Amino acid sequence: MNHKISPSLLSADFLNLQKDIEMLNASEADWLHCDVMDGVFVPNISFGFPVLEQVNKVAKKPLDVHLMIVQPDKFIQQVKDAGGYMMTVHYEACTHLHRTVGAIHEAGMKAGVSLNPHTPVEFLTDILDDLDLVLIMSVNPGFGGQKFIPNAINKVARLRKMIDERGLNTLIEVDGGVNLHTGKQLLDAGADVLVAGSFVFSSGHPSKTITELKKL
Ligand code: DX5
Ligand code: ZN
Repeated sequence: MNHKISPSLLSADFLNLQKDIEMLNASEADWLHCDVMDGVFVPNISFGFPVLEQVNKVAKKPLDVHLMIVQPDKFIQQVKDAGGYMMTVHYEACTHLHRTVGAIHEAGMKAGVSLNPHTPVEFLTDILDDLDLVLIMSVNPGFGGQKFIPNAINKVARLRKMIDERGLNTLIEVDGGVNLHTGKQLLDAGADVLVAGSFVFSSGHPSKTITELKKL
């Protein structure tokens, strides 16, 4: 029952972003998940830092920034200036991940690393102690509303074991295809944070849906 919910703004109404953020402010959401895409690392473009800065003016919850971009090192200060609390980069996008994680911490943010569906959690063996969060993708990143990839549950369980064996506080977040059914399975496997986009915003009653996810 101590898990966090991080609704994804990707499924919000971009013409009425302020309205949706105010709804999230008043909801039981813990964080606000912000998906930045570059059309290179993923086959889609979402929104960038100017939008994030505006979001930050209204948001009362910590910004959980998920960067689906190449060379995220270039944008660490911009994420910080746009109000980033958690800055998550992709394992597959970082050649010098240790350096990137260090620079995120130096900028005063929490550091997260995200894994695509094909990337084993064991690849984090030598960086795990430095991470505040691991984001396990349960869809191929780039779009909201995709079908959940069940192997993510197995990855969460394996990562939970690694984290517990070392006595770390690293959070496990899962992103993609999360609903009440998959969310429950992920929490049972040891997840700490659930991201949900389309499930929340297409439900007709987003705030109530967040409460349902929170109660899982
Ligand atoms: C996908 C994004 C997700 C997306 C999830 O690449 O990283 O955060 O918003 O959307 P749903 O919850 O609809 O799968
Ligand atoms: Zn995301």
